[in-house]
This record gives sequence, C-alpha cells and structure tokens, in this order.
Amino acid sequence: MDPTLEAVSKITVPLLGQRKLKGEKIACITAYDFPTARLADAAGMDLILVGDSLGEVVLGYESTLPVTVEEILHHLRAARRAVRRALLVGDLPFGSCQAPEALAASFRYLKEGGADAVKIEGGKKRSRVIQRLVDAEVPVMGHVGLTPQSVRAFGGHKVQGKTPDSAAEVLADAQAVEDAGAFAVVLEGIPCELAALVTRRLRIPTIGIGAGPACDGQILVMHDLAGLSPEPRPKFVRTYADVAGTLERALTRYGVDVRQGRFPEDRESYHWSAVMKEQFESEAAASSDKFLKAVTSDE
Ligand code: KIV
Repeated sequence: MDPTLEAVSKITVPLLGQRKLKGEKIACITAYDFPTARLADAAGMDLILVGDSLGEVVLGYESTLPVTVEEILHHLRAARRAVRRALLVGDLPFGSCQAPEALAASFRYLKEGGADAVKIEGGKKRSRVIQRLVDAEVPVMGHVGLTPQSVRAFGGHKVQGKTPDSAAEVLADAQAVEDAGAFAVVLEGIPCELAALVTRRLRIPTIGIGAGPACDGQILVMHDLAGLSPEPRPKFVRTYADVAGTLERALTRYGVDVRQGRFPEDRESYHWSAVMKEQFESEAAASSDKFLKAVTSDE
C-alpha cells in the first residue's frame, strides 16, 4: 500500500469529486477476477473497473465487441468478493448502451454484481440514457474520445480530437456526459492539450488513458501494466512488471522438474503417522490380502 494514501475505508462517488477540487489525483485500474482485484484494492487503487477490455485480455476475443453483460457480471461478482475500499465499476458492453438494455444491465450490475457504479461509452449520443440511469440512482462514469466500441465507425483505433472539428466534438461529448449527471468521465486516446482543456472545463473528474498527464486521474488495463498482454502495447502504456515472463519461467521450471522426477520432493508430500504405518504393516502381515503384502514388501 502507498504510504502517502489518506486513511479512507471506502472510496465513494462524492469523494472522487472532492479529490478534483483538492487537486488530488485519482488512481484507477481494471481488474477482472478475485486475486487481481484483491491486489489492486490492497495497493490502494481508488477505482477498479471491470472493463469490457476483459474480452481482449482475458477471454481472447479480437476486440471488445463480442463481450456480453453476462460475462461482465460474472467477472464483477468475482471482483466484488475481493474489493473492500475501491469504488467498483462495471462496464456496459457493446449492444447494452441504449435504454432499456442499459437500465436492465445496470440494475443487474448493482444488485447482482455488487457494483458501485457503471461506465458507458459515448458522449452526446448517450446523454439521455445517462440521465435515465442517474435518475434511477445509478452512478455513471462516462467515456469519450477513442471509445473502443466505436472502432468500426472510426475505422480503427485512431486518436480522436486531432483536428479543430474533432476536438470540438470530444469537448462537446465530455460536456454532455457531465450535463447528463455522470460523476466522472474517461478520456481515451486524445491529445494531452485537449485533455487539459476538457479537464479545466469540467467540474467532474476526468480519468485519462492515452490522454496525457493533465487529467484528474489515470486508468490502465491491468494486463498492460503487468506485462501480461501481448506486445506491441499502445504508446500510452507503462509496463510496470513482467508478470508474463515470471510466470512462463516458473511454468518451464515446473515442467522440467516434473519430467525429471524432481517434483514433488519428500518435504512436499504428506506422510502416514508412525502409528498408522505400524498398524498398516501389522495388518498386512496378518492378512492373506496379496495387495497389502505386496505394498509392505515394497518398502
Ligand atoms: O474496458 C476498459 O478496460 C476500459 C478502460 C480502458 C477505460 O474502458
């Protein structure tokens, strides 16, 4: 745990808003299962997102588009069992971002998955659905810029907001998300100058991914940060560990040890007690059972 962290037992939606006012950065990460969510929570992450990126980094899909509400819910439940302090957010996958699907999925995330909030991709186009969710007491985090669910419409993973028109569009999207009542907005894949402008204009915290340092917080995909996703990784990723290398080396050593009979050793095996051994041997001696006799004579 980061020793500079304030002693807060539970991160809440209002607390994230206060962080922006105080100029304190918000650290966010994705996690999709019990062990990694537990580690992320213990490390003091403020927000843990069960993102639809799980489709690519955990389920092996080529994009986030095939991910279903059911899949997010499954992983959300696992993360919920681990997360105590961080705000836990469930992502609305492609095809669930319009009403009434968004409402139905969000209620399930909060009631069955234990989420504290939901995230939805899209700006102006989603403002009505965000309003309806907020009216229904569902805290919403928006997501604008290079939204991966729009890759087909964008013609690939292209940084948004590089021209005056596109920059104005991103700003308007972020503003629409705030006006609709979202408590925060993810800014993905936009120039850092634009992210700085959006961050200054909005009252709600901006959480950047590939949007430069001026955002109120940052989020990364756990598997990118841990070196578990395949290379090359996007330019904005900082890989803090080589978990894939560590795991592969461990698995290789284990395979060699098994094949060479070096695993398990005696200290890694269970044993009968001396009493049990003695009883077994005397029963074997007295028995006509050939199997028992054979076992004891082997020793
Ligand atoms: O799905 C996801 O993990 C996300 C984050 C990268 C913001 O949307």
